[in-house]
Amino acid sequence: MRQVLPRDKNLPPVVFHYIPWFGSAAYYGEDPYKFYFECREKYGDVFTFVLLGRNITVALGPKGNNLSLGGKTTQVSAEEAYKHVTTPVFGKGVVYDCPNEMLMQQKKFIKNGLSTEALASYPPLITAECEHYFEKELGFSPTSPGPKTIEVFKIMSQLIILSASRTLQGKEVRESLDSKFAEYFHDLDGGFTPLNFMFPNLPLPSYRKRDKAQKSMSDFYLNIMQKRREGATDGDGSFDMLAALQGCVYRNGVPLTDRDIAHMMIAILMAGQHTSSATSSWALLHLAHRPDVADALYEEQKTLFGNPDGSFRPVEYGDEKRMTLMNSIIRETLRIHAPIHSIYRKVISPMPVPASLSAPSESATYIIPKDYYIVAAPGVSAMDPRIWKDANVWEPFRWSDEKGTAAMALNEYTTGGEKMDYGFGQVSKGTESPYQPFGAGRHRCVGEAFAYVQLSVIIAYIIRNYSLRLETPDGLFPKTNYRTMIVLPLNGLMSLTKRKQEV
Ligand code: HEM
Repeated sequence: MRQVLPRDKNLPPVVFHYIPWFGSAAYYGEDPYKFYFECREKYGDVFTFVLLGRNITVALGPKGNNLSLGGKTTQVSAEEAYKHVTTPVFGKGVVYDCPNEMLMQQKKFIKNGLSTEALASYPPLITAECEHYFEKELGFSPTSPGPKTIEVFKIMSQLIILSASRTLQGKEVRESLDSKFAEYFHDLDGGFTPLNFMFPNLPLPSYRKRDKAQKSMSDFYLNIMQKRREGATDGDGSFDMLAALQGCVYRNGVPLTDRDIAHMMIAILMAGQHTSSATSSWALLHLAHRPDVADALYEEQKTLFGNPDGSFRPVEYGDEKRMTLMNSIIRETLRIHAPIHSIYRKVISPMPVPASLSAPSESATYIIPKDYYIVAAPGVSAMDPRIWKDANVWEPFRWSDEKGTAAMALNEYTTGGEKMDYGFGQVSKGTESPYQPFGAGRHRCVGEAFAYVQLSVIIAYIIRNYSLRLETPDGLFPKTNYRTMIVLPLNGLMSLTKRKQEV
């Protein structure tokens, strides 16, 4: 009805839809970026769409990112947007099931657990997991060099959980991965889908499984903490997140309970698992698709780590910063395949939209009403042809000057006469940045440094030892599946062939 009535000029324009409650669900769900770019053409940077009964206001571009991600806690709330889906999975009392002030302190505790000292101990452990997995699970050896075709996301998911549990999650989790822990993870993960996001409490078997798995996984961590306290196990002496969180105390003097820690461990596991599995999968698919970049990456490994006998020195902490091309590959992969396409907040008090973002032809500025959701889609500014040259082309060299491909570098971004020069290969991490795969503002990711270490060690292991080939059914680069919570490749098949060691 409101589409036919004259529009309140203070409200952002509403995306046209035929079915009132259903709104733009199909259009958005199928390809959110296509939807965002097309709506921007029609309605400008700020518009509202209806998604299964909810009013969702989208604010695009760096200024739109800032509006939402830099929003005040009196105006926008992540807890109100997410807790119905995250609390049944993570558990009570942490992350979005507590006041924002407590989450901020929990993030500090997690950051302490990701100290330089901790990260420094991880590369050899991650490499050992890769060696074991490729030889024992995938069966590669000098006499069985492949090619073997793999479904890349499946393999990367396993490597990510193996390496995250060997490092952050601790030895006991790693040892239980072959049995019950994997089962809990599977059932819990089944509770983290778009269906759960839209309908938190359906009487479905997957919801019951989720709840049972949450309790079992939480008890599992409690049991480890208890055993460590009794001295029956001490991890293996290496520093892990469980050790870092035990003994943490909130500013008001209240300590984290074992149950809080268990729930934070689940949150950390879930936050890093699909994001890093997706990113490594996309990076490897691009390397298989662009042999010139794969060759250059192999050369970078040889230059930095090659021994005269053709073997490689192990990657150590700090090395990931010296791997210029590796870094550029991860950055560029995250530019066009940010795992999270829409970052939601609930509007908790009416939110004025700055005049520069309201449509120029309108006389009034927009107000986003209370109880609407506001969405940031940093992927839109990260792939915006107004900001980036060849915006849709995966071109890691755009981040470095090495090949002199200045044509691929960031454009100067100009808006409303105001000029923002993000610099050559440099991008701000602020809330008004065109590049935010890790989010921005108070909810910005705390796992970035860990993700870079994990991804670069895994990709280094693979490129040193294997050559890659795309094996998609149509020979083309895989399309994207947006129907999952995380942006994944569809039919991401590739083959690996063990390299002969050069002497
Ligand atoms: C938050 C992306 C890996 C832990 C976020 C956010 C994004 C993001 C976009 C902001 C969400 C929001 O504003 O609503 C990524 C990507 C990753 C990654 C792209 C890997 C490539 C990790 C890892 C961990 C982690 C490995 C744990 C070690 C967190 C936590 C938050 C967060 C605790 C804070 C949530 C909040 O404050 O609301 N991540 N993440 N992430 N991430 Fe990550």
